[in-house]
Amino acid sequence: MRTVTKDNITDVFMNYLAEDTDPRMREIMGALVKHLHDFARETNLTHDEWRAGIAFLEGCAAIESEDRHEFILASDVLGLSSLVDMLHSRPEATSSSVLGPFHVSGAPPLAVGGDMKRDYGGALLLAQGVIKDTDGNPIPGAELDIWQTAPNGLYASQDADQDTYSFHALMTVGDDGRYAFTTVKPVEYTVPSDGPVGDILRACGRHPWRPSHLHYIVKAPGYRSLVTEIFPDDDPYLDEDTVFGVRSDLVMTYVERPAADFPAGMALSGTVTEPFLRVEFDVTLSRDS
Ligand code: BEZ
Ligand code: FE
Repeated sequence: MRTVTKDNITDVFMNYLAEDTDPRMREIMGALVKHLHDFARETNLTHDEWRAGIAFLEGCAAIESEDRHEFILASDVLGLSSLVDMLHSRPEATSSSVLGPFHVSGAPPLAVGGDMKRDYGGALLLAQGVIKDTDGNPIPGAELDIWQTAPNGLYASQDADQDTYSFHALMTVGDDGRYAFTTVKPVEYTVPSDGPVGDILRACGRHPWRPSHLHYIVKAPGYRSLVTEIFPDDDPYLDEDTVFGVRSDLVMTYVERPAADFPAGMALSGTVTEPFLRVEFDVTLSRDS
């Protein structure tokens, strides 16, 4: 095509793709470029605005590292990560939610009934439930990877005062599919906002807060692995999570119980002297097919 115009440039792009381009690549690149071109036409994008966009991408690249995933954070606050999650979630299973950048592999094993709170302050929370299949049967031997922030709102990798694996644990459930652990009541916290993504949030008048949550990855042979989070129903940010992670079936209720109701068979049994919070949250996995 000799004469490229603002109206035909999208078609010209498609014609540039080789005949034998993989069909899915053709579909994705075609749609991506069509939407990019339409976006520029629709907004009458100026050179300065185009440069600002490029500077944003360069700013993300400049601080991207093992511990800082600014591009993923950008995807998170734009709602893209959550949209991709929802496109592929299974209605018969517990909803998935964003992984976030703070999961670490190699978390230490924690027996069912174990304690993650240790000497940290904050309210004591007993979290428990059953890992089950879509018929409601427990899944023996399912593995639950758990992580959350300390009461200061920081993950262990963000905080030199915490051990590498504080508030990270890996639990294998028994034949009854039940998991149980004690921890500190999660707190709301802000996503990192000292980089280009923070600039975008501020430019849009948005806050960087996430509602408090526990992260779970649940795995079992023969089942589709689930990356999810659970959120208390009284959190002030529940309806305005900056990364769009909340789904209605992931909302739980804390019930306050007197110390005398603390159950037997837990690592902290016999030592709890104050009222504690309890939450029961079952997780349903779908078959891996
Ligand atoms: C998190 O929940 O750990 C998280 C998710 C998305 C972006 C930043 C943090
Ligand atoms: Fe988190």
